[in-house]
Amino acid sequence: MSDGFSAGWLQLREPFDTAARAQADAVRQFALAGRAADAGPWSVIDLACGTGANLRALAPRLGQGQRWRLIDHDDALLGEVPAALARWATAAGHRVTPGGATIHLAGEGFDAIIERRRLDLAAALHDLELPPGALLTASALLDLVSAHWLQALLQHALAARATLLFALTADARIRWSPGDPADEAVQALFAAHQRRDKGFGAALGSQAATVALEHLAAAGWTTRHAASDWLIDGAQAPAMLRAMVEGTAAAAIEQDPAARALVQAWALRRQGALPATRLRVGHVDLAARPPG
Ligand SMILES: C[S@@+](CC[C@H](N)C(=O)[O-])C[C@H]1O[C@@H](n2cnc3c(N)ncnc32)[C@H](O)[C@@H]1O
Repeated sequence: MSDGFSAGWLQLREPFDTAARAQADAVRQFALAGRAADAGPWSVIDLACGTGANLRALAPRLGQGQRWRLIDHDDALLGEVPAALARWATAAGHRVTPGGATIHLAGEGFDAIIERRRLDLAAALHDLELPPGALLTASALLDLVSAHWLQALLQHALAARATLLFALTADARIRWSPGDPADEAVQALFAAHQRRDKGFGAALGSQAATVALEHLAAAGWTTRHAASDWLIDGAQAPAMLRAMVEGTAAAAIEQDPAARALVQAWALRRQGALPATRLRVGHVDLAARPPG
């Protein structure tokens, strides 16, 4: 919910991401099924990996011999990857072996060698190495980037004939139930904040998936997309809903400090009614196979 992404926030959102990804499973299947049977193991590049949520979602589906490169500009998040993987692997019955610079992950029917790399993708996209035919993936990234940066990434991906899988791109569908008279005003400020520069130039925000699909179609890629929404029930997930109220309010006030009183009153009403509140946050998962 902020421009800096704490490991705690990424951990809080991961179960909601997992449930959201399940709604768009056909998109993931489309991406993975495009590969020739004799193409060998997957090389996967995960952009803006955080603590590795995308790896946890995908690796069990990608078979033997996977090679992953996890990329982020945040050393602290990259440093959290082994612990986050170990927690997940213990719960899921997989095995993780940290081995210096590389991490080995194995479970029933899959194994992976994982490397981490610190790279500022905004400043140094040209340094991104893409093995031919790789799976180029990211989760919760595209709404942060600019149209110009996205175009450059897609050109890079086309040259490498990568398969693309971009999960959990926020869109404009946010619905609080029951409604509050200030929802519209607060969400408009939040949406404007989403379009601010997050380091990549003016962010695409809620238009990101639509713009990506347009670029991909124009360049001849075959695409699939589907909704992957967060469904947050305040009775069952008060911490997540509280974080959403706080994060929305903080962004709205940063966007327009003059609206502080309105936004704070909204947040107080929302915090006071958490157990009776449900929130849908719209996301889109999209996949693309290269032309020809
Ligand atoms: C919303 S988080 C998503 C993290 C992870 N993919 C997940 O789904 O949990 C956005 C991520 O983008 C990373 N990021 C933001 N700007 C970046 C940049 N210029 N270069 C590389 N990573 C960046 C952040 O550090 C953070 O890990």
